[in-house]
Amino acid sequence: MNANRIHNFNPGPAVLPDSVLEEIQNNFLDFNGSGMSATEISHRSPWFDDIINDAIARTRRLLNISDRYKVLFLQGGASLQFCMVPMNLIADHQSADYVDTDTWSTKAIKEAQILGKTVNIAASSADKNYAYIPRDFSFTRDARYVHITSNNTIKGTQWPEFPDTEGIPLIADMSSDIMSRPFDVSPFGLIYAGAQKNIGPAGVCLVIIREDMLDRVPDTIPTMLRYTTFASSNSMYNTPPCFAVYTVQLVLKWLEETIGGLKKMEDINRQKADRLYRFLDSSDFYRPTAQPDSRSMMNVTFRLADESLEKPFVQAAQASQIEGLKGHRSVGGCRASIYNATSLAAVDALIAFMKHFENHKG
Ligand SMILES: Cc1ncc(COP(=O)(O)O)c(C=O)c1O
Repeated sequence: MNANRIHNFNPGPAVLPDSVLEEIQNNFLDFNGSGMSATEISHRSPWFDDIINDAIARTRRLLNISDRYKVLFLQGGASLQFCMVPMNLIADHQSADYVDTDTWSTKAIKEAQILGKTVNIAASSADKNYAYIPRDFSFTRDARYVHITSNNTIKGTQWPEFPDTEGIPLIADMSSDIMSRPFDVSPFGLIYAGAQKNIGPAGVCLVIIREDMLDRVPDTIPTMLRYTTFASSNSMYNTPPCFAVYTVQLVLKWLEETIGGLKKMEDINRQKADRLYRFLDSSDFYRPTAQPDSRSMMNVTFRLADESLEKPFVQAAQASQIEGLKGHRSVGGCRASIYNATSLAAVDALIAFMKHFENHKG
């Protein structure tokens, strides 16, 4: 491992496994004997077919996805999904339910409304500044789907389990916790996740879509915005983000072969989060912001009791080779993002630094 590597708690783009970066480096000039870099091969080549098909197969195995679903790799980030979902899945005079749990779900709601779709807010945690995941919902019987954000990257909340929508397809933005734990895919009509937090670099968005959702797609929307376009072309209607897909493939291989699957990944993630929250709870100097029953295993948000110390705290962390602790610019405060590739050792180093800072400033 490169001695210059620091502890990276960035919210996304975020830390990737060292072994993945090393594999990319080792193959960078000559990918699998092709004499070309993975950045140079054609997306119409057998080399890229192998990459994308392996990434799809690994996604299916890791999440135990049935044949009823297609696995797609799209561009435009998770933000494009905010409009593609309603555009493809709600016809005129139909509506959808959304659960509002902060910025990213609020943005998804706004995009559906821009398209003139009827949006019902089935629940919201706005009353407590989005510090919790709602437990009570009022779903609309003929809603075309229920949209949730499984992990709220900015406020540091995460759904402990998913709501029972009584047969209405669930749709989830899982950008910041995809592949962090196993879950049952079958209630979901569609899942999307920008790759740049848990499964790869920026530039590609994983979409898992059930076939009955594809039947809803109208042919009156532009070709590049239709799920059917990518479902019928193995995500290669146009040039896909080849290098990003390749990196995702290697991260998924690491998850399967090095970590040993999502149950093992969840156990590690839980250990990391428990250690950090336990430390925060034991201190009067730091104050975690999410309600305990809604805390995220991925993004640990906190304030310093004396908020004027937050800037020096982030700066002192950087001086100690600990990057990325500044809270999102919309809320301030502090946040440690501890995605899959963050090691227990990195979390221990963070806690040691935080104790040291407290002892000197507290
Ligand atoms: C939960 C969630 N959804 C959506 C987005 C937006 O993703 P993108 O930048 O890929 O559009 C983010 C970005 O941080 C996010 O955390």
